[in-house]
Amino acid sequence: MNQSYENAPVDEQSAHEVEDAGLRLALVDTSDADAFDGWIRADFRGFHGGAPSKEVLEESRGHLADRRTTAVYDDDAPTAEPVGTVNSWIAPLTVPGGVRLDSWAISSVTVSPTHRRRGIARALLGGELRTAHRLGVPLAILTVSESVIYGRWGFGPATFSAEWRVDTKRVRWAGGATGGRLSFTEPDAYRETGLAVLDAAMAARPGEIGLSPYLAERLIGPLKGSDHPDRFRLVRYDSPSGDPEGFVSFALKAHDDFVRHTVEVNHLAATTDAALRALWRFLLEMDLVSEVRAWTRGVDEPLPALVSDLRGAAVASVQDHLWVRILDVPAALTARRYERDGELVLDVTDDLGFAAGRYRLTVTDGAATVSETSDAPDVTLPVASLGSVYLGHDFARALAVAGRIEGDVAALDALFRTAVPPRLSTWF
Ligand SMILES: CC(C)(COP(=O)(O)OP(=O)(O)OC[C@H]1O[C@@H](n2cnc3c(N)ncnc32)[C@H](O)[C@@H]1OP(=O)(O)O)[C@@H](O)C(=O)NCCC(=O)NCCS
Repeated sequence: MNQSYENAPVDEQSAHEVEDAGLRLALVDTSDADAFDGWIRADFRGFHGGAPSKEVLEESRGHLADRRTTAVYDDDAPTAEPVGTVNSWIAPLTVPGGVRLDSWAISSVTVSPTHRRRGIARALLGGELRTAHRLGVPLAILTVSESVIYGRWGFGPATFSAEWRVDTKRVRWAGGATGGRLSFTEPDAYRETGLAVLDAAMAARPGEIGLSPYLAERLIGPLKGSDHPDRFRLVRYDSPSGDPEGFVSFALKAHDDFVRHTVEVNHLAATTDAALRALWRFLLEMDLVSEVRAWTRGVDEPLPALVSDLRGAAVASVQDHLWVRILDVPAALTARRYERDGELVLDVTDDLGFAAGRYRLTVTDGAATVSETSDAPDVTLPVASLGSVYLGHDFARALAVAGRIEGDVAALDALFRTAVPPRLSTWF
């Protein structure tokens, strides 16, 4: 990479597109508090959030300063606040085999409802992808508010996450003996340890990303402006030999019936099975509680095996979570490992051009080599479908049924799918 992402200039094509719409595209100087506050307010408004207080603005400025921050301005409008926002940074994405691959993380995509559907998002997203590609970043990633938006830019859903609800009056613990030590702690006291635990947990699972302090801290403790910060609790798990191996942050919601509180899990991080078991047991056996709810957990969460009555631990919903957009096919495919060997010629189509081509993927002893070829393809697929199978999720056969993968789908599935499904356990 010959240029740092923070200083990469605005994309010229995007700037022209925005100008053609009578607007102006610019990078925001995040050290200029007034300009950055306007951008942050527009971002909050874009997601229908409350107006940020002075404290929230100050905290957000501190947390988001390192991101490449882009705005669209309507210079004819009476307010100087942006009508479009986006930010991006390089995040390490864990891919199958454990490599953490530099990825272009995109967030805060908003367009003011006063300026919607005039092509602003199109200009912003195109600019992000072209900039990432220019800098040699092999893929872009995001989490989405709506699943209908990003397919048109070549993103495909690559991890799925589950919302779990456990009826704790119904189930009994069936997960065996648990050890170690559980203790209440405070976010300030635990921050440094918590960051290390999170990093280890995120490094270990394909689909997880390395977290900036902002993304990590909100998993450990509430940020300013969070709902009911006084109801927030943090419990750490340390192994019998005293090693920090996990934590759970959660809130308790009251109910008219005092024995029916609900535990809402903010985040559960565990670097060992022992920590995972102990933390789930702690949550499920809490007195005066009738339900535990947890979001963005894996579709393979072991809960059904940890309780006596598995219908008492149910998946309330499953939804797409991390979306992947491959920009450099050889770099992306050689970065991950494979659980079976094989060879495939892939014909990748890409309306935006970045990834289009025909590639021979050869996997030997789990490691891939990729070369361009003109041989007949075994599989033809759009880049969004390649993104969807990239991290190993079981999705190839469904995409083939839908006509979005053609050819030898069984061979593609056998090569790409992993025994442990990828998971992203947070939003960004
Ligand atoms: C999503 C959002 C950024 C789109 O901005 P926009 O400037 O209106 O989008 P554009 O005019 O550039 O639209 C580009 C294309 O995406 C489509 N599109 C945009 N938003 C869409 C949506 N919410 N649902 C379905 N299609 C959408 C447009 O119809 C257009 O389609 P086309 O390719 O067929 O022409 C804007 O609606 C928004 O701010 N929503 C609320 C915040 C949000 O959800 N952001 C996404 C965060 S992940």
